[in-house]
Amino acid sequence: LFVNASEASARKIPDTLFGIFFEEINHAGAGGLWAELVSNRGFEAGGPNVPSNIDPWSIIGDESSVIVSTDRSSCFDRNKVALRMQVLCDHRGTNICPDGGVGIYNPGFWGMNVEQGKSYKLVLYVRSQESINISVALTGSNGLQKLATSNIVAADISSWKKVEILLEAKGTDPNSRLELRSTTKGVIWFDQVSLMPTDTYKGHGFRQDLFGMLKDLKPAFIRFPGGCFVEGDYLRNAFRWKETIGQWEERPGHFGDVWNYWTDDGLGHFEFLQLAEDLGARPVWVFNNGRVSHHDEVDTSAILPFVQEILDGLEFARGDPTSTWGSVRAKMGHPEPFDLKYVAIGNEDCGKSKYRGNYLKFYSAIKDAYPDIRIISNCDGSSSPLDHPADLYDFHIYSSASSVFSNARHFDSTRRSGPKAFISEYAVTGNDAGKGSLLAALAEAGFLIGVEKNSEAIEMASYAPLFVNDNDRRWNPDAIVFTSSQMYGTPSYWMQHFFKESNGATLLSSSLQANPSNSLIASAITWRNSDDNNEYLRIKVVNFGTTAVALKISISGLDQNTLESSGAIKTTLTSTNVMDENSFKEPNKVSPVKAMLEKVSESMDVVLSPRSLTSFDL
Ligand code: AHR
Repeated sequence: LFVNASEASARKIPDTLFGIFFEEINHAGAGGLWAELVSNRGFEAGGPNVPSNIDPWSIIGDESSVIVSTDRSSCFDRNKVALRMQVLCDHRGTNICPDGGVGIYNPGFWGMNVEQGKSYKLVLYVRSQESINISVALTGSNGLQKLATSNIVAADISSWKKVEILLEAKGTDPNSRLELRSTTKGVIWFDQVSLMPTDTYKGHGFRQDLFGMLKDLKPAFIRFPGGCFVEGDYLRNAFRWKETIGQWEERPGHFGDVWNYWTDDGLGHFEFLQLAEDLGARPVWVFNNGRVSHHDEVDTSAILPFVQEILDGLEFARGDPTSTWGSVRAKMGHPEPFDLKYVAIGNEDCGKSKYRGNYLKFYSAIKDAYPDIRIISNCDGSSSPLDHPADLYDFHIYSSASSVFSNARHFDSTRRSGPKAFISEYAVTGNDAGKGSLLAALAEAGFLIGVEKNSEAIEMASYAPLFVNDNDRRWNPDAIVFTSSQMYGTPSYWMQHFFKESNGATLLSSSLQANPSNSLIASAITWRNSDDNNEYLRIKVVNFGTTAVALKISISGLDQNTLESSGAIKTTLTSTNVMDENSFKEPNKVSPVKAMLEKVSESMDVVLSPRSLTSFDL
């Protein structure tokens, strides 16, 4: 491998190249990154009609002691459903309540993770004609072990009353539940019951451990909130940003019919923008262009209200705090505008008949109002020029390992002028990937090396999907797997770590002299480490073949003294079996392993393990 480290042959890689794509799929947000512990907190998941299914809320007691139903008596106009609990038993008289009382419990999203020493903020709304004495508890999954307790004692609450309680956990259980019980006969209404750990990232509602996994990737951007989630199967179930902002209690929530689950939309338009800011990543907002995956479509003649909705969403993100929508953002605690500079008009909609007509309406309205916004088309412009204006075009690739690996060359002949590619979803899928194999990660690494080399034509790239709650796998594979208390990265997650210094780095020219069976692919960059302000050289090589390869790396244009004085680190991602995956039991089975390189010189002999991704940091 020849690497030319002289400036003359070098080229800057876009600052934006590698980022992440967050989609509300697999309970990535609700029951995932969004730390809300109560599932179906407003009792709306069963729909606006009553009586309704309150799942996963369950009843403590039997028909002789308690009757639980729903009605439309909420104090919140946009989500009228409230829970009505009629306690039939009492602490005295003929129908004595069972020990501890009767009531309801919420098991969260497959168990709430309650940890000793941590605090949890409970907020709920309650109403009753009688005075109430409700015991509140965080308990183990069988309801026996009490991890935290409190009481709500109130009289004169014939109008809705907001109750806030800080629960301090005295024990740990990743499978806990929240219980609300009473031993007093009467009717009690509950609505908007929220339980949040108090240690979310900066208090912004993001689960610390999962947020940390994202931050560690140093993403240059975050695309959100989907994918198909944006579109819905039916437009009525699409993500509509206006329904996801403002006070959490007043958000209606919606059923994401593509991935088939309800979300309370605690993680809404504001929170996505906040997430981007917290990650130091540029937000990329994908919005619905009036087309949906399988059903409904909006004719171009009727698209203007949709265009206005998006302009309002941009004003919400970027507008002056005195503007109509900017003031709503300011009221939510962010008077400064968010740095929203990228929007995608739809997701995978290019083939649909009305796409171009609708696209052009959005395009010109956005460019008129915000000329600096970079607009992403759904049509692939990698092989032939687009027939409409755009700053970027979307490119998605889900395929077998060999196909993804060989697509490293896909952009070799793409025009260097005109709109840039946004590879907003790439992954190996199917049998080669399973739930996240080494094989998949290696093919993707090969593909990304091709992306680096073609980054004159490519502005951004992100893996998909990002998260999966192991209890609700809607899509395999994913980058990060989690439950209420655990998490691990798949090999594809770790593979991305090899590329996180590439944003804004300098791509050196490099070439492989011999490449048996085309199973090798390599790149070289120099990048500046902001921690020590030193410049580093990183060479990455994927050996996609099944045998070890002895490789001579020759570096020209670097001072020999510099080379000799610098220690070097070799980092390898490999495993004994190419289909190896990580798991909760073996979270690091396939993860980067670092070793010191003893001898660094202009010409180094190294051995690449079979089926491996290796980086050499000098
Ligand atoms: O990443 C999963 C899905 O794949 C996305 O929602 C969609 O854009 C693509 O089809």
